[in-house]
This record gives sequence, C-alpha cells and structure tokens, in this order.
Amino acid sequence: MPEQRFRPREELLVFGAPLIEEPEIDEVVRTLRSGWIGSGPRVARFEADFAAYKSAPQALAVNSCTAALHLALIASGVGPGDEVITTPLTFCATVNAIIHTGATPVLADVDPRTMNIDPAAIASRLTPRTRAVVPVHFAGRPCDMDAIMTIARDNHLTVIEDCAHAIETEYRGRKAGTFGDFGCFSFYVTKHVVTGEGGMILASSPHDTARLKSLALHGMSADAWKRFSDEGYKHYQLVECGYKYNMTDLQAALGIHQLARIDRHHARRAQLWVAYDEALADLPVALPAPPEPDTRHALHLYTLLIDEARCGLARDSFLVEMAARNIGVGVHYLSLAEHPFYQRTFGWRPEEFPHATRIGRQTVSIPLSPRLSDADAQDVVAAVRDVLRPRCR
Ligand SMILES: Cc1ncc(COP(=O)(O)O)c(C=O)c1O
Repeated sequence: MPEQRFRPREELLVFGAPLIEEPEIDEVVRTLRSGWIGSGPRVARFEADFAAYKSAPQALAVNSCTAALHLALIASGVGPGDEVITTPLTFCATVNAIIHTGATPVLADVDPRTMNIDPAAIASRLTPRTRAVVPVHFAGRPCDMDAIMTIARDNHLTVIEDCAHAIETEYRGRKAGTFGDFGCFSFYVTKHVVTGEGGMILASSPHDTARLKSLALHGMSADAWKRFSDEGYKHYQLVECGYKYNMTDLQAALGIHQLARIDRHHARRAQLWVAYDEALADLPVALPAPPEPDTRHALHLYTLLIDEARCGLARDSFLVEMAARNIGVGVHYLSLAEHPFYQRTFGWRPEEFPHATRIGRQTVSIPLSPRLSDADAQDVVAAVRDVLRPRCR
C-alpha cells in the first residue's frame, strides 16, 4: 500500500510528559491551604497506599529513587572496600549511589534480548569483596529474579532492586521490589507515578524500615517525624549521622492520586504498545521483545534499535530527524562505560560490555505517556516511517 504523504506536527510532542489530572491538583491546593506542606499525614497515606499496592508490609517515602538507592545501600552495610554489581544499561544514578557509599561499582553485561542484567555475567564478576547486587528492571521488564536470588543466596549478597521503571512489574506472581532486601522506586516526572521528584523504599525487614526512616531524616530517632504534630512538641535524639531525604506532603498529594490511576495508565500504554508493535513491524528496526510468560511488564519504555547497516542512517541522525518532525525522543541509555568519569575512575571500556554498548549506541525511546492521544501515536508512527522509509528500500 502506498504510504500517505507525511505532514509534520505543528507543536513538539514532549517525550515522557506526565498526565496530571484534577484530583491531584485539588489535593495539592488542599495541602497548601492546610498549612502542612512538609512531611506529614499525606506522606503517611501515600506510604500506606503504596505498600498496599505492592502487597508489602511497609513503605518509606523519600525525595528520589537516587536517595532510596543510597539509603538502601547504607542500610545494607555497603561501604569502602566492598564491590556492588549492577548493569551498564541504566541511569547514572544507580552507579552514583554505589559510589557515594565508598564502595566500588562493578558492571555485568546485559542479555541482548531482555536488555536486563545477565545472571551469568553477574556470576562471572563475583569476587570475595562482592557485597551486593543491584538489578535494574530495565524499561519495566522484570529481571531473571530466580537466577539472581540463587546467586545472591549462594554468595551471601544483599539484593537491592532498582525499580525506577517497574512500579507495576511482576515476575512469577510476585511484585518487583519484594524479591530482594530492598526495592527502590522513582516518581520523577517521566515515571508512572509522578510527584515532581520523589521515591519510595520497600525493605524486607521491619528493622531496616525503621533504620531507613531515621537515616532519611538526619539520623533522628524515628519519633522525630512527629515532633511538630498536634500532640505537642516532642524532643528527638540524634542516633546516627543521616541525610535529608524525606518526602513532603506536597509531593505525596500528587502521588496519592497518581497511584490510584496507575493501572488505568498502564492499560493505556498497553494500547499504545500494541499499536506501535503493529505499525512498525515491517520496518528494519528491532522492536522490544515480547514479555516473558508469567510476568507483568510495566511498559515504561518503547525502544527501537536503529542499526545503521540495516536502516541506512545512524541512531544519532535518527534522533535529529525525529526532533525535526517535532517528536520528542529519548535514549535509555548509553552504556555507563561510555562516560568519561567512569572510564577515568574505574577504567571501564565500552568493549567489555558488548551487548550494552551496542544497545546504547542504537537505542531510541519513542513517546509512550498515557497522555498520548491516538492521533499523537499516529504522528509518532508517521514520523518514524517518514525517516526510515526512503532509506531502507
Ligand atoms: C533506572 C533508574 N534508576 C534510578 C533513577 C533515579 O531516579 P530519581 O530521578 O527518582 O532519583 C532513574 C531515574 O530516571 C532510573 O531511570
């Protein structure tokens, strides 16, 4: 069938634009009027709602997933002299949190199909100093948690799941973030629950949750959270030197209502996903692999792999061409071994991680926000086809 003539959009389709609706706007206004905008009752409600959604006993809200990862590593006792294994195909926050504890990050390459850390690569990177592993459920697809938990058990490793993409993710009937000792979530603007900035930690032990709560507020005794409550002033004690990582009620006001709609938004992204799968199937690009059986994919990123040899243009030229057609796109991620700081500090070389390096040099994420209308999705498809069609004949 002949392709229709391409007509560019008049306005930029912003990549990852959040869908903010009236209930959270009203809740933010009520929070402002209440006079309690710091950490208070709305944070407590958001934590309870999140724990219920994840079937976890407790959850602790913090001000980012980076903070959640940092605290989880500290609560695991990770520090100088330790090694922590993670994936090269992640946001720099995952590795920076490890570095901030004084430990050394060690990368293990990904499986080229799932783009998740390969358990065999983890096994090959173990040393007597390995203390923890941080699997990242990339794009919302669960990692091979059975294999990872077996390696962790056999080698006495702490498991901290980076669930920044994976609020809705499930693996063999169990929810992401509840396999390991800690699960860390992000509510950054492009994520599936948006609070501006924000994060959440699930800990498998109540003792760890109490310690995390203290660490997130300077290291004050846990009851310090109530010190400005209407029960009257309470003295607090500083029990260790912690951080300022608490979430505010203003952020939680957004999160409560975003979380209530999370499955509706997932269903909308699932429609967009199927539409992209169908409309792009005949192009010479690799589309995301189908989800594994008995899993729930959170559908966070829809990635195309632009192989210059097959497509007739390089990935970076594709990014430019999409921007010229007013379609916002993302890159998730250049392999961490491509960055000068890590190369300088740890001697990482891209060729050590061939799968992550190839994916990082070819990948493009196209818009997948639940905010997208059918017409927006058609514009994305039309732009991708318009860029690739003349070259790949
Ligand atoms: C995989 C991954 N880990 C960690 C983070 C850090 O999250 P935050 O921005 O909430 O600190 C992100 C954020 O994009 C991420 O994508």
